Amino acid sequence: MNLLVTGGAGFIGSHFIHYELAHDSAVQIVNLDLLTYAADLDNLDAIKDERRYVFVQGNITNRELVTELVRQYRIDAIVNFAAESHVDRSIRQPDVFIASNVQGVAALLAVSRACHIGRFLQVSTDEVYGSLGPTGYSTEEAALRPNSPYAASKAAADLLVRAAVATYGLDACATRCANNYGPYQFPEKLIPLMVTNGLLGEKLPLYGDGLNMRDWLAVQDHCRAIDLVLRRGQTGNVYNVSGRSEHTNREIAERIVAALHLPDDAIVTVPDRLGDDRRYAVDPTKIMTELGWRPEVSFDDGLQATIQWYVDHETWWRPLKKRAALD
Ligand SMILES: NC(=O)c1ccc[n+]([C@@H]2O[C@H](COP(=O)([O-])OP(=O)(O)OC[C@H]3O[C@@H](n4cnc5c(N)ncnc54)[C@H](O)[C@@H]3O)[C@@H](O)[C@H]2O)c1
Repeated sequence: MNLLVTGGAGFIGSHFIHYELAHDSAVQIVNLDLLTYAADLDNLDAIKDERRYVFVQGNITNRELVTELVRQYRIDAIVNFAAESHVDRSIRQPDVFIASNVQGVAALLAVSRACHIGRFLQVSTDEVYGSLGPTGYSTEEAALRPNSPYAASKAAADLLVRAAVATYGLDACATRCANNYGPYQFPEKLIPLMVTNGLLGEKLPLYGDGLNMRDWLAVQDHCRAIDLVLRRGQTGNVYNVSGRSEHTNREIAERIVAALHLPDDAIVTVPDRLGDDRRYAVDPTKIMTELGWRPEVSFDDGLQATIQWYVDHETWWRPLKKRAALD
């Protein structure tokens, strides 16, 4: 299979490229990435000379470029990771989220249709469902009630994908996954932000009362889910992805404090971000029963391994901390 992976220089996309190359000897991958502040080619260093892999710098909104790549490399399927992905940034600068996350997806769908792409897979998020109360789970049938500009842009993209299936008969699917964690995550996201702050002797900032609840999944488990949906998902279907591992932000911060032996006053509370959702939780029954997916990494093991990875890879994250602070 010849795959166009977009946003493959980011956190999840780079893990997915490694996963595909390791698990399918027949796969050929073109990685199209704009190389925004969030991108880093270090995670792909080990495969830069791999003959089944090509990197191209460019924007998914550029239809001519995407068309040329699809034709030149005889692309069978597109997996779209490319997006602006940080909620806090979407509150300050929503326009770039509309450009990449909405117009970018519209462009990819148009090319997919014109070039008769075999499958389009949109990597979406549990945030499109909006906030839940203390109990219950969002199934794939739940209404989309996004609350941040980021979530709204992802929900808009999901609706464009849906419309492309219904209107043009495009073979497309979407995944809606819980929060990911693991190596090579940009140190503005909760877990790497807190770990790297702790390692630098800085405070760990906790939004509001710290009781906002998120569902956490190891990035490797997410990549296996995307691979399954890419190969075996039913056309037009959405698949929630979750390991049912819910934790408050305060609990995560306290676990990091304990793991790094930080002082008791390492955590400081800061005002909650605007429109912050209290809880997301998706029901993964469909992907488990229809495609046989199961999470393999426990949160205890995955968090411990991730913290250790950041301890061991300061040369990777230290320059990125400066980049995050400058923006
Ligand atoms: N991180 C999570 O917890 C999570 C959870 C569920 C879904 N998702 C989704 O998964 C995808 C990947 O998330 P991530 O955490 O790896 O993000 P990331 O910010 O680490 O990476 C995004 C990548 O997309 C690239 N990009 C951005 N705009 C582009 C454009 N216009 N053209 C080409 N490339 C562009 C960036 O350069 C970067 O390499 C996103 O679509 C996100 O919405 C993320």
